[in-house]
Amino acid sequence: MNVYDSELVASILKTAGYEQSLNIHKAEVLFVNTCAIREKAVERVINKMHQYAHLKVKKGKVKVAGILGCIPQYSSERLKKELPFIDILSGPDNYDKLPQMINDCLKSKKMQEKLVLDKEQNYEDILPFTENKHSVFVTVMRGCNNYCSYCVVPYVRGRERSRSVKSILTEVKNAVSNGVTEVNLLGQNVNSYSSEGMNFAQLLNKVSEVEGLKRLRFATSHPKDISDELIQVMAVNPKVCKHLHLPFQAGSNEVLKRMNRGYTREEYLSNIEKIRKIIPDIAITTDIIVGFPDESDEDFEQTLDVMRRSGFDNSFMFIYSERELTHAKKNFRDNVPKKVKAERQKKVIELQKSLSIEQIGRDAGKTKVVLVESVSKKRKSELMGRTEQNRIVIFEKTNEVAEGDYVNVLITRAEGLSLFGKIVNNGEGSK
Ligand code: 5AD
Ligand code: SF4
Repeated sequence: MNVYDSELVASILKTAGYEQSLNIHKAEVLFVNTCAIREKAVERVINKMHQYAHLKVKKGKVKVAGILGCIPQYSSERLKKELPFIDILSGPDNYDKLPQMINDCLKSKKMQEKLVLDKEQNYEDILPFTENKHSVFVTVMRGCNNYCSYCVVPYVRGRERSRSVKSILTEVKNAVSNGVTEVNLLGQNVNSYSSEGMNFAQLLNKVSEVEGLKRLRFATSHPKDISDELIQVMAVNPKVCKHLHLPFQAGSNEVLKRMNRGYTREEYLSNIEKIRKIIPDIAITTDIIVGFPDESDEDFEQTLDVMRRSGFDNSFMFIYSERELTHAKKNFRDNVPKKVKAERQKKVIELQKSLSIEQIGRDAGKTKVVLVESVSKKRKSELMGRTEQNRIVIFEKTNEVAEGDYVNVLITRAEGLSLFGKIVNNGEGSK
């Protein structure tokens, strides 16, 4: 979501006459977009800004340095104290004010701050600035109303609101006319999308009608809101990719209740079973939090159990991080010792490794359509791409194949989180 928001900022500034620079030493205005979801992210940003300080303070090339997004919204006072050379703080709903803020800052030499949550702000008419991409993000809704007890998002991104169907379609059509073939629809909880009487399943069908679009992805789905209609669209609409990100967070019903997630482990597992029955070749990924207040060894075992039963392709596995403003911070004690949290995280990572190999290994021997993304990080002679299931595939580079192509790859083996294979019958794959 922040990649998308940064593209919005780039677009707003381009319209105001600025050029984007990919070389930090050439930039005169420096913005860092930020996430406040865990304390580690906050610390990382503060360290990074200390590293950048010399660009402004010593070298003087940077005239205006700003921090954008959720960290200013979450703790502006701390940023002002720890990073006194910062000129601009802007929350996620105030990016349209940035050109004015830069001007005011240059004129007055005073720090500018806009941290107003605006429940109407959807950046409806702004086309994000992206370059040379085959796959883009398109935000369909902003904010969140779910108030999971550990989560700061509703406080820093505000109330949930859906973008209009028209502005989403305009953005997708514009991307496709620039050569994009894969679109990733984004929202904190896309299942509650609602605009002009259209729900998310219907929006997927509508967007899929855009000519030239080949793949349609989305994230994130909330388990309490996943509908039969959405599962059906995934099953039958050939453009909608068979990959579902469905965070379960914790396996114990007591913990889920204290997290205010709105479902039980049984409901989650029966959803997974239903989805796998209807869409047998689906890949499911998830988010997991370990060390939530009062999480006992037995609770944690239940998390491992849900993992084993669900067969996730991959998981994002986090240690609980206490956040200001949240229900959990106000009402529970962050009482699982650091060491126990770390041990639990290690255990889920270990288990996930074996589950990943088992899940993705099933593709061995199959021919999959792969969208070529880039040269492989490890070896320049190889390319990296993804299957419809969002599985990474590495294969030998050939002269006929370029980034953005769809190719057929015969999968030979799985290793770690990647599949390895070779291009077959060179014809262009369809999705
Ligand atoms: N501590 C740890 N992880 C968190 N997440 C959200 N809030 C917290 C927190 N306070 C995780 C959840 C969510 C993902 C985006 O980040 O797993 O799904
Ligand atoms: Fe946070 Fe829950 Fe909203 Fe996700 S659904 S952004 S975890 S409050």
